[in-house]
Amino acid sequence: MSIDLAVIGGTGVYAFPGLQQADRRTVTTRWGAPSSAIVTGTVAGGSVAFLARHGEGHTIAPHRINYRANLAALHELGARRVVGVNAVGGIRNDMGPRVLAVPDQLIDYTWGRASSFCDAEGEPVLHAEFGEPYSATLRRSLLDAAQRAGVAVVAGGCYGATQGPRLETRAEIERLRRDGCDLVGMTGMPEAALARELDLDYACLAVVANWAAGCGPEPGTAISLDEIHAHLAAATGQVPRIIAALLDG
Ligand code: HPA
Repeated sequence: MSIDLAVIGGTGVYAFPGLQQADRRTVTTRWGAPSSAIVTGTVAGGSVAFLARHGEGHTIAPHRINYRANLAALHELGARRVVGVNAVGGIRNDMGPRVLAVPDQLIDYTWGRASSFCDAEGEPVLHAEFGEPYSATLRRSLLDAAQRAGVAVVAGGCYGATQGPRLETRAEIERLRRDGCDLVGMTGMPEAALARELDLDYACLAVVANWAAGCGPEPGTAISLDEIHAHLAAATGQVPRIIAALLDG
């Protein structure tokens, strides 16, 4: 089966609503099992493979996700384009809760994650080019699709990938801001780098769940999990429309 697009759903996105003729595939890879079964089906005449990054019951913490198995499984199924949907905190003033964004840069602050497929002695080491961490073509397609679907999406921005699962301190977010980060999330890396090693076209669709610590109009307010879930539920509802427009276009 050919896959037109793979979608990796993040926090708040555990299934792909509207997937027709859906079929669940339980696969394993050389790198182990992916986070969930891969659900394939059609949307707007295109074939989609969907994977829940944290597992379908949100039981896998960001640092325990088997990113290699996730990407390898999608690649083995035939996916060549992957959209990663990532819940994030907003740092930049125009990146408040419920904003959707397609970042164009990232900074990796994660540690201790299996972040390369080059991991066996005796096998060639690949130094993947990563100056532009996201596929320019897929970013453009996502932004054009969002416009056709009538969904507002911010173009560009720098994603700071933190270790989690805790949220950051205000000082950590200040540092990220000084570094040039506009958004902060826990799962953008090593996903993007692994996708590049497999030569996949990969882009991030970031969904702002909350103001990052110390940001926004009331910087002293603690981040409430209920609020995060309410914002995510509202904002992720737009994602299937963007993906349908992408496949339709
Ligand atoms: N920080 C890191 N990751 C996140 C946040 C945050 O504030 N919100 C949602 N994912």
